[in-house]
Amino acid sequence: MKHSNIPVIAIDGPAASGKGTIAGRVAKALGFHYLDSGALYRLATLAALKAGISLDDAQALEFTASRLAPVFEAGRILLDGEDVTQAIRSEAVSAATSKVAAVPGVRRALFELQRRAARAPGLVADGRDMGTVVFPEAPLKVFMTASARVRAERRYRQLLERGEKADLNMLTADLEARDRRDRERASAPLKPADDARLLDTSAMGIEEVVGKVLEWWDECR
Ligand code: C5P
Repeated sequence: MKHSNIPVIAIDGPAASGKGTIAGRVAKALGFHYLDSGALYRLATLAALKAGISLDDAQALEFTASRLAPVFEAGRILLDGEDVTQAIRSEAVSAATSKVAAVPGVRRALFELQRRAARAPGLVADGRDMGTVVFPEAPLKVFMTASARVRAERRYRQLLERGEKADLNMLTADLEARDRRDRERASAPLKPADDARLLDTSAMGIEEVVGKVLEWWDECR
């Protein structure tokens, strides 16, 4: 594997652990690029669903992922010219994505796309295997957790704010099922890297978590 000199902060953790918000804020504070690797898996899934591909057809899923050419611009994500920013966040796509992400060929197809996101002056990458597989050379790896209930409550508030309907018990069950699939898959399962720093954010506010990550970054430079 090619090791680059670009500094990378890898932030991994289960669904709705707040990684995206934190990674985005840390990237902004440092003037780094930000990679939302989950968005790539979501895009591959949406593309497959639109093409009517069965979630059991590993070869077709890999092909779809290898052809993915998303455009990220001004907070929007375009796929084949269509704005899919909201569509990739639906609960249906979330649930299907953890199945698609378990296919080794899909992970292979998205690997280079993720590596290419490491550009000067640096990158904050969030996902499930940033520290273990994609950026094992990252000087700072954070594994962020929060209890399933706290995570479901955060997602519940997000959905209500967006004017969508939500059921807290169903959200908790969905999150737990998704985490189980992510943890138990054979290819790049969700787990902390050996040298990751663990951060339980259940009782922490956003600013506090951002501050902690920036403090760790200062320590390891
Ligand atoms: O982070 P997010 O919840 O958007 O990720 C959606 C799904 O994509 C996860 O549940 C997981 O199955 C998959 N994923 C992955 N590896 C990553 C990022 C996301 O398998 N690095």
